[in-house]
Amino acid sequence: MSSPAGKPARPIAIIGGTGPAGMGLAYRWVRAGETIIIGSRDDQRAQLAAAAIELKVGKQANISGMENSAACAAADILMLTIPFEGQAALLKQLKPSIAEGSILIDATVPLASSVGGRASRPLGVWQGSAAQQAAELVPKGVSVVAAFHNLSAELLAGEEPLDCDVVVCSDDPDAAQLIRELAALIPGVRAIDGGKLENARIVEQITALLIGLNIRHKGHSGIRITGLPPAAYR
Ligand SMILES: NC(=O)c1ccc[n+]([C@@H]2O[C@H](COP(=O)([O-])OP(=O)(O)OC[C@H]3O[C@@H](n4cnc5c(N)ncnc54)[C@H](OP(=O)(O)O)[C@@H]3O)[C@@H](O)[C@H]2O)c1
Repeated sequence: MSSPAGKPARPIAIIGGTGPAGMGLAYRWVRAGETIIIGSRDDQRAQLAAAAIELKVGKQANISGMENSAACAAADILMLTIPFEGQAALLKQLKPSIAEGSILIDATVPLASSVGGRASRPLGVWQGSAAQQAAELVPKGVSVVAAFHNLSAELLAGEEPLDCDVVVCSDDPDAAQLIRELAALIPGVRAIDGGKLENARIVEQITALLIGLNIRHKGHSGIRITGLPPAAYR
């Protein structure tokens, strides 16, 4: 199987891909010609979600649905889109299915709503960020890349280009570059090297601010980073 650009297919497994964030990313990437596996705790739910995207995109869509551990085993690029409260337990469960050399993209936003508080308040994480917690839990030789925290799932599900930059943070520069390429496939998105994984803490917390702004102003806010030389934007 090959993508429209003639590159070999590189399946991306979206773990927890049945929710709005995973479905939105899946929709945009399938439209860009990527091969997507929707993961879920329930095999049937995953297949239904994949079928819903195929219906939207058309029969040419390269998309399937599988239980999360099967999805992990079938791909080297894993996108994690589940609520923070489930992150540690799910990663521990999936650890045997994640191959060495894989990339785990983490979009988890630790919000106070996970512990009964407000979604507009960030939750402190002992490791510094949800992405750093993920890095402690994946098998050795798996690179964690933090990205996509500030994109609105509702806008991803729509047809318009997004008015938002994606700040990508990782301790593995090669993995980060690949994920910046994936981010730039989403119309309107510019991907920016955000430095080390520890910076994910700041990017995750911006989402709490965006949620507060959305509630206050009834919108779908995003971020733009200005003033950098053109080469900084992918
Ligand atoms: N929504 C947004 O606009 C947005 C934007 C940027 C980042 N994010 C972040 O992306 C993540 C996903 O967001 P979302 O809105 O898509 O979340 P969601 O709808 O609450 O959850 C996504 C999926 O995760 C699975 N899941 C739920 N609880 C779980 C648990 N305890 N353990 C394992 N799997 C569980 C469910 O899939 P199954 O039941 O099928 O397994 C669910 O459909 C969150 O961390 C969020 O902060 C969201």
